[in-house]
Amino acid sequence: MKKTILYTAVIAMVFALNSCTTAIIDEGDTSTLPPLNRTVTYKSDVEAIMFNNCITCHGGSAPSDGLDLSTFQNTKLAAQQRNLIQRMNDATNPMPQQGVLSPQIRQIMDKWVTDGLLEQ
Ligand code: HEC
Repeated sequence: MKKTILYTAVIAMVFALNSCTTAIIDEGDTSTLPPLNRTVTYKSDVEAIMFNNCITCHGGSAPSDGLDLSTFQNTKLAAQQRNLIQRMNDATNPMPQQGVLSPQIRQIMDKWVTDGLLEQ
């Protein structure tokens, strides 16, 4: 009986902590931002975003999920054939795993796609 109460308390705490962290994470909506009136390319923005946020896991000799995001070709393919953009905007299963990046960064990634995944 006591064990059941303990388990219930632990589960309740886990839920409470979980809702705290999701509240802190900035899941801001990109649609509230002013439109980006410039062309986004891999060289202008995307390369730095990948290197600052993704390469620690998606680079080196054993990249996470076999996904190496250290080159233009690989990043473009991941946006076309894997779910790179979706995962960067997925608040429940985000990439990076710690939480979705700022709306400004995600808007840049969306613009890269609409601009045609240019290298430079
Ligand atoms: C702390 C390590 C870590 C970081 C940082 C990270 N990832 Fe990941 N990523 C993983 C792991 C582990 C998986 C496999 C498990 C999963 O899908 O959640 C994964 C899976 C993915 C997938 C799914 C691939 C597929 O085909 O299903 C994509 C896309 C992705 N990551 C993109 C990114 C992007 C883009 C960034 C940076 C904005 C990033 N990741 C940052 C560890 C990381």
